[in-house]
Amino acid sequence: MREILGSDVRQIEPFGLEIRFDLAQGLSPDDGAALKDLFYRHKLLLFRNQNLTREQQFDVLGHIGPVDRASPLDYVTPDDTILGSRNLAFHSDMHFAPFPAEGVSLLALDVEDDSTYTAFVDAAAAYDRLPDEAARRIDKLKSVRAATPGVYEDELPYELPEGMHSMEREAVMRHPVTGEPIVYVARCSTSRLVGLDREDSTALLHTLYDTLYDEAHMLKHWWRNGDLLIWDNLALQHARPDIEGITRRKLQRVTVATHDQSAQIPAGYVAPVDVDGWQVGTDS
Ligand SMILES: [Fe+2]
Repeated sequence: MREILGSDVRQIEPFGLEIRFDLAQGLSPDDGAALKDLFYRHKLLLFRNQNLTREQQFDVLGHIGPVDRASPLDYVTPDDTILGSRNLAFHSDMHFAPFPAEGVSLLALDVEDDSTYTAFVDAAAAYDRLPDEAARRIDKLKSVRAATPGVYEDELPYELPEGMHSMEREAVMRHPVTGEPIVYVARCSTSRLVGLDREDSTALLHTLYDTLYDEAHMLKHWWRNGDLLIWDNLALQHARPDIEGITRRKLQRVTVATHDQSAQIPAGYVAPVDVDGWQVGTDS
């Protein structure tokens, strides 16, 4: 008898769900509905041993929401021209855009098994762990977000480098589907909390970062060939250490986005190190 998506699952610690199902066989409407439900409930889904064309991956993600066929990043490799082999600090993709992609998926087409990982933290769960006073304060605050793709290992300075694109957004995002509050700041791309002086802003941001990036609540997924990860790009942040020296790491990337992502990419995003002399690690 044909398996039903969601009937064979395993909880991942500290969050996420592994689902045993061969996605290449196609999804029935019930399978698709189950996929969408599990995606929003668990925020991260892992399917192992998958063999999908890019079109098939579009079809799978299409059960969650509209897929982005115009993304400039189709494959993540050590020599791709956008991310390359650099360290990527915790971020959500397109976090500085008004409407970031809701979901991201990566399928390991060709990797050295168990030699590299992507790390995840749950920023919705982090909100629930915040000290009451910090939660109360950030509920009313906006933050300044810079257009960085996560390449900065250090904390962004209070004063943004001149010329760097940025936007102000609520420090707490309400998830558009689940309604959950999400701590929507990131160490590598949030410069300050609007209306607070340097000392106050920095102290409150450090409280948020300490909660968000607590290793006890961090998931590290070590890639094996055939792994498909699908995650909630609003509720989760992801990161990876640099992959210098790794030659085999080709991940096929498909995103779910209700709003056009390419139209929201500001100038300076693709090569942010060239923006007015900004250097990786600069703290002035
Ligand atoms: Fe990313």
